[in-house]
Amino acid sequence: QVLAETCNSKRVGDDLQVPERYLTKDPNAEEVVAGGDSNCAIPIIDLNRLVDPRSSSSECAKLVSACHDWGFFQLINHGVADQVIGNLKSDVVEFFKQPLEDKEECAQRPCSLEGYGQAFVVSEDQKLDWGDMLYIQVQPRESRDLRFWPTRPPSFRNSVDAYSLEAIEVGYRLLEFMAMGVGAEPASLRGAFQGQAAQGMRANYYPPCRQAADRVLGISPHTDANGLTLLLQINDVHGLQVKKDGKWFAVEAMDGAFIVNVGDTLEIMSNGKFTSVEHRAVIHPTKERISVALFFFPPPNMIVGPLPEFMRGDKLRYRSTNYQDYLKQFYAGKLDGRKQVEKLKL
Ligand code: SIN
Ligand code: FE2
Repeated sequence: QVLAETCNSKRVGDDLQVPERYLTKDPNAEEVVAGGDSNCAIPIIDLNRLVDPRSSSSECAKLVSACHDWGFFQLINHGVADQVIGNLKSDVVEFFKQPLEDKEECAQRPCSLEGYGQAFVVSEDQKLDWGDMLYIQVQPRESRDLRFWPTRPPSFRNSVDAYSLEAIEVGYRLLEFMAMGVGAEPASLRGAFQGQAAQGMRANYYPPCRQAADRVLGISPHTDANGLTLLLQINDVHGLQVKKDGKWFAVEAMDGAFIVNVGDTLEIMSNGKFTSVEHRAVIHPTKERISVALFFFPPPNMIVGPLPEFMRGDKLRYRSTNYQDYLKQFYAGKLDGRKQVEKLKL
């Protein structure tokens, strides 16, 4: 992996030209649907309504269609304490605020996905995304590589710990309701993930781009390779866009909600009942944006294939694959829409 010039705020002065390598987006070649219109926004799912026996089945049905039609939804009343989210937010902001030299204490190292730097830089001439990130493996605890965990702010580790423990419960509950919603055993999906629950966290920092905000991308179109992703937008600058019917839909993150999305693994396990949808992040001309994604991975040696529970009366739609091999392929290329998951379709 080549660690190219990091996209750091010091490059964002008004007088600087945006290097050619960052100009990846053609604003005239695409249709973007603005956020905020309730007719075209990603669905909102209420965890209280999923749990309440009086509303559970209708909310479950809504969850299933959100996961199928959009692959994305916002989750409200998720129950993770405000304080836990608040601590995570302020520590992530503090981390990125530090001077580059201090952040580089946790810099990515060759052949490691973890650390501070840029994602998916696989060659010297590849186009680049306008963003920095810090990626760490969070669960299981034994998998943590503390060389990549910031020591400043000092509360960072505790904040991530507390957040990940609460968020993992939310993730599991969602997996249960997703299974129930399609008539499968509630434990079928959860059980597949739970064995050696693995979680990774990626904090994204997207600097503003005064000169060419409409021609750079914070993160190129991609799907998530993992099972489920919980995303928290840290400040009120929006930027996530989700593809549906060939158009990009801007997502206005609700304050305090999680943005949840289906990854490739869940699409495959559900035999296509849920969809891993392409998404990207765009850049604001004058404001920085920060987000934190928590990824739920299947156990590393799992053979990922459609679960029998999800296939009743349905033909087999995907080939099975070893998750480790799938990840290797995923990370070997540059981010490229639904390319990887499409390869497994029968
Ligand atoms: C991601 O897809 O991981 C990042 C999305 C975002 O920052 O909104
Ligand atoms: Fe993503």
